[in-house]
Amino acid sequence: MLPESFIQELKYRNDIESVVSSYVQLKHSGKTFSGLCPFHSEKGPSFHVYPDTQSFFCFGCRAAGDVISFIQRIENLEYKEALQFLAKRAGMAMPDEVENDSLSRLKTRIREINRETARIFHQNLNSPAGRDGLNYLRSRGLSDRIIRRFGLGYSLGEWDRLYKALSAKGYSDEELIAAEVVKKRKQGNSFYDVFRGRVMFPILDLSGNVIGFGGREIGGGGPKYLNSADTPIFKKSRNLFALNFAKNSKEKGMILAEGYMDVIALHQAGFDNAVATLGTSLTTDQCNLIARYTDLVSLSYDSDGPGQNATNRAIDLLKKNDVKIKVIHIPNAKDPDEFIKKFGAQRFRLLLEGSANSTEFTISSICQNYDLDTDDGKVNCLNKLAEFLATIPNGIERDVYISRVAADFERDKDVLAQSVQSLRRRNEREKRRKDDGKLTVFAVNMPDGKTNSINDIQRRNNIKCAVAEDRLLAALIMNPDYFKWVSQKIQPADFVTDRNREIAQTVFDRLERNLSVDLSFLGENLDLEAVSQLSRGVMELSGRRISAEETEDYINVLIQHKKEKTKEEISQMDNEEYARYMEGITKGKASHWRGKQ
Ligand code: GTP
Ligand code: MN
Repeated sequence: MLPESFIQELKYRNDIESVVSSYVQLKHSGKTFSGLCPFHSEKGPSFHVYPDTQSFFCFGCRAAGDVISFIQRIENLEYKEALQFLAKRAGMAMPDEVENDSLSRLKTRIREINRETARIFHQNLNSPAGRDGLNYLRSRGLSDRIIRRFGLGYSLGEWDRLYKALSAKGYSDEELIAAEVVKKRKQGNSFYDVFRGRVMFPILDLSGNVIGFGGREIGGGGPKYLNSADTPIFKKSRNLFALNFAKNSKEKGMILAEGYMDVIALHQAGFDNAVATLGTSLTTDQCNLIARYTDLVSLSYDSDGPGQNATNRAIDLLKKNDVKIKVIHIPNAKDPDEFIKKFGAQRFRLLLEGSANSTEFTISSICQNYDLDTDDGKVNCLNKLAEFLATIPNGIERDVYISRVAADFERDKDVLAQSVQSLRRRNEREKRRKDDGKLTVFAVNMPDGKTNSINDIQRRNNIKCAVAEDRLLAALIMNPDYFKWVSQKIQPADFVTDRNREIAQTVFDRLERNLSVDLSFLGENLDLEAVSQLSRGVMELSGRRISAEETEDYINVLIQHKKEKTKEEISQMDNEEYARYMEGITKGKASHWRGKQ
């Protein structure tokens, strides 16, 4: 981390107006300057620079920020590189980074705790008390070699074996709790292990650090799988199981499976390019991560209904990345693990090689919904297929599948092609109308050509919460002194939209460590779009103060939303999550405490 004083000095010496002027021709208009936006193409000037707040904002593409994020965008630089760029411009030397702040110390300790925990779990397999674990893994057909390679283990049945072992090694209660390997009992000052009587799957990051665990029950009850909660070094939504191995695989592409056991069975069978999500469904971050290492993803989810739904969902998400998608259909077995056990690795390779691409998969899953023995069924199915064909962006690919579907249904190809074409025109029109009508939803063009559309969809679906979050964050940035009471009422995890949750995590982290949350400092931890969103939130207030009362109203919007979890979400909670959820609800009702300014 760089000292705050350096960044303040850097901004002082790089006046936004003069920096922007070397890229954009600015005109004076009142207190501000305006010009043609350098981040999207336009004819009229919607790009504005505000000298009094040292910020910029484009009314066209909604890019916003300060001089640092302006340079990041226009020069396509990381935060630190932008600082270097501006330092050079102002003739300043880059100072040494401030080492060892408390968070990075804690992260180091959590890594050590995880490594030690994985070692203890693994050793348990060889002790008499861990016999059950070893027998279970062997009964699933795993060799000693693969058990060692994945560092699999067993958590003993007692309540606090791990807690005692790690305490004896000098780790404090706070550190063990932060690592999410132990929990504190509600009553009294005692602690218990999170994982008990489970076979354990360590999760490694790309540098080989153990960052978390998945644990499967083997007769002791509780949920089938239990996964570590997120910690400062572990975000479930941003990691993949076995990516540390798969990224170095010589196999073609990557295989995305549903479970830990599938991945391990695949690796044992030679498919060391298999990865899985960590007990949650696939996220955008995970898709981006995969796309960094491969351009071909073979989806190998369970053959049951939920597995096929997950496949459809994964196709939709992965399509946003530039990767080829194939879908492996697994016949006569419920998942890849079972298939390999029944039919062997060779047969799985045949599936892999013969697997359909995602277009073929979608076509066949549409056909499954209709009775093709009746004329009615055929017509309805063909209409549905035409709608799907109309969404294939590539013209050549579209034409290939139009021909194929027409042949399969014994219809005239030109007729089908015409109706697909008219559907495309209709879609175009609808899209344009939506874009015009929705002034609150914007796709900001990022320097790399990607848009923030996922975030937009989420914002659109939760617009009330999203705005409350924007305001709450802006309130904290402008009144860091609110933090103490705000953080007693709400935590980043309570934020509804992914992006604001991520922003809140950073803002809360910094405030906890008494660091400045001025926008110029946040770029170190946030991506450009997040900085942009935050700037907009602050700018939309145009200097208005947010009182503690108003801030509390925004908090209440989020707390209210939290109470309204869907039935589906509640049914997916394990017992502890449910207890915490219920506790949260009753607490919210009991008190209505207002903070003092
Ligand atoms: P086995 O039954 O051991 O072969 O496991 P599996 O991987 O085939 O299990 P399944 O298909 O039921 O689940 C796939 C993945 O979903 C698992 O690997 C877990 O990551 C996750 N999962 C399954 N059950 C639970 C659960 O009860 N809680 C949570 N959080 N995740 C689960
Ligand atoms: Mn299974």
